[in-house]
Amino acid sequence: MTRKLIVLTDPGQDQAAALLMILGAPQAFEVLGLVATAGNIDLGYTITNCLKVLELAGRSDIPVFAGCPEPMTRRLVTAEHVHGPTGLDGPDLPEPTTAPAAGHGVDFIVDTLRQAESGTVTICSLSPLTNLAMALVKAPDIAPRIREIVAMAGAYFEVGNITPSAEFNVYVDPEAARIVLDAGIPTTLLPLDVTHEMLSTRSRLDAMRALGNRCGVATAEMLEFSEAFDLEKYGWDGAPLHGPCVPAFMLEPDIFTGRSINVSVETRGQLTEGMTVADWWGITDRPKNAFWVRHGNSDRYYSLLNSCLANLP
Ligand code: RIB
Repeated sequence: MTRKLIVLTDPGQDQAAALLMILGAPQAFEVLGLVATAGNIDLGYTITNCLKVLELAGRSDIPVFAGCPEPMTRRLVTAEHVHGPTGLDGPDLPEPTTAPAAGHGVDFIVDTLRQAESGTVTICSLSPLTNLAMALVKAPDIAPRIREIVAMAGAYFEVGNITPSAEFNVYVDPEAARIVLDAGIPTTLLPLDVTHEMLSTRSRLDAMRALGNRCGVATAEMLEFSEAFDLEKYGWDGAPLHGPCVPAFMLEPDIFTGRSINVSVETRGQLTEGMTVADWWGITDRPKNAFWVRHGNSDRYYSLLNSCLANLP
């Protein structure tokens, strides 16, 4: 059955790959709209990058809504050091010829969930959770209407990437992550614990480029830009590819393994703010509020990604 998706995203090369993976699986996903989030780069760039990726895939029919320009309570922290000054450095993509849709991304989330049949819309989150949390605060009635949240967020066994204890998407807006995880909505998290197993090795990037279509080649070029920071940092034979883990889980969940646990967010720690405290061993009696994906099969992951990219222009 086709999943209706609202996609929260701040592309970011890895998220562009995730968006293209989603668009390459039209039999599985109906994308109702993208909500551009402030995160990897400022909101202006994430809006532009959403439009660029949709045009690359020939899907400018999908609306892009501007979300909040800042996290709920904190100053925005960005990641140009990874993604470059535009957030989508690598391929020379043309400036978009389309514009964002009218209206705020938070209102798009609220209105779409109120109008759709309850339990039919999935929130596909690739970014900080600011706009979903704002929607839940503004309209608590939407929480039970969400089919599930599938999000790239958090880290525990792999520790942090933007600080020693926090993953970027949660670190940018920990209050938002706490609100979302406390909302009682069926939630699956794809943390660094699993995304760090999905390495874009040279041979995998070569296979992506060898697809020969513009989306396959552009994705390889994007990842060849953004990998530099992680290759230097981790010394691995490839950079972790975070974003596509979200659509991959929805397409083929048996690629992955995990368990339902409690995940709590540190919002006040001096050294640990933004940390996702994953009660993997069930030590506390806190509610099991998330399915925490711990491992995945990277060969199947990249094969699935390429099969989706191959369906695009
Ligand atoms: O921590 C990794 C995630 O944060 C990636 O999705 C990257 O795009 C940034 O949003």
